Amino acid sequence: MTRVLGISGSLRRGSHNSALLRAATRLMPPGATLEVGSIRGIPLYDYDVEVRGIPAAVAQLKEAIVAADGVLLVTPEYNNSLPGVFKNAIDWLSRPSADIKRVFTGRPFAVIGASPGQFGTVQSQTAWLPVLRTLGVHAWFGGRLALARADNLFDEDGNLKDAAVEEQLKQYLAGYVGFVRRAAPVPTA
Ligand SMILES: Cc1cc2nc3c(=O)[nH]c(=O)nc-3n(C[C@H](O)[C@H](O)[C@H](O)COP(=O)(O)O)c2cc1C
Repeated sequence: MTRVLGISGSLRRGSHNSALLRAATRLMPPGATLEVGSIRGIPLYDYDVEVRGIPAAVAQLKEAIVAADGVLLVTPEYNNSLPGVFKNAIDWLSRPSADIKRVFTGRPFAVIGASPGQFGTVQSQTAWLPVLRTLGVHAWFGGRLALARADNLFDEDGNLKDAAVEEQLKQYLAGYVGFVRRAAPVPTA
């Protein structure tokens, strides 16, 4: 079984990105699962807090990543870049820096996103690149999913209602899971 952990970078109840992640959980290829992780409860990064101990919400998400074969980031776009709350969560996950190897290095990551705007989350996804490079993840660039006009793609209950986008998402996930399966196992040390 291939295990992927998905993380939405939005905290709002009606989030398009969280809805996209939920839709992805039921569109995974055979033999693969997508578990939903959460950034909720992660405080603002503060070194003084770090030295007192890694917050429980951070530790929990870190272990969920370590237990996964790959990580799918589902990112909103704020001011043509990535959202601060999401970056803050990833910053916490990279602490202490000695844990970067265990949590990030060589782990297959992919980034998708949705926005009500006409360019989807193209700029936000691009803004993640230096972060992912710095953390040494094994990023997948074989597909791209930046959903524009997301207001029209989900119903009132947050269910994906666009068949073409559903097919696009399915294809994306199949490509990404293939990449995860071909990737060398992530070293545990
Ligand atoms: C501070 C802020 C800045 C935003 N800037 C952008 C932007 O640059 N490009 C864009 O497409 N949408 C932008 N938006 C709109 C978001 O894409 C929209 O709120 C979206 O629904 C957020 O994702 P979510 O639905 O997963 O919460 C911005 C929203 C906020 C709150």
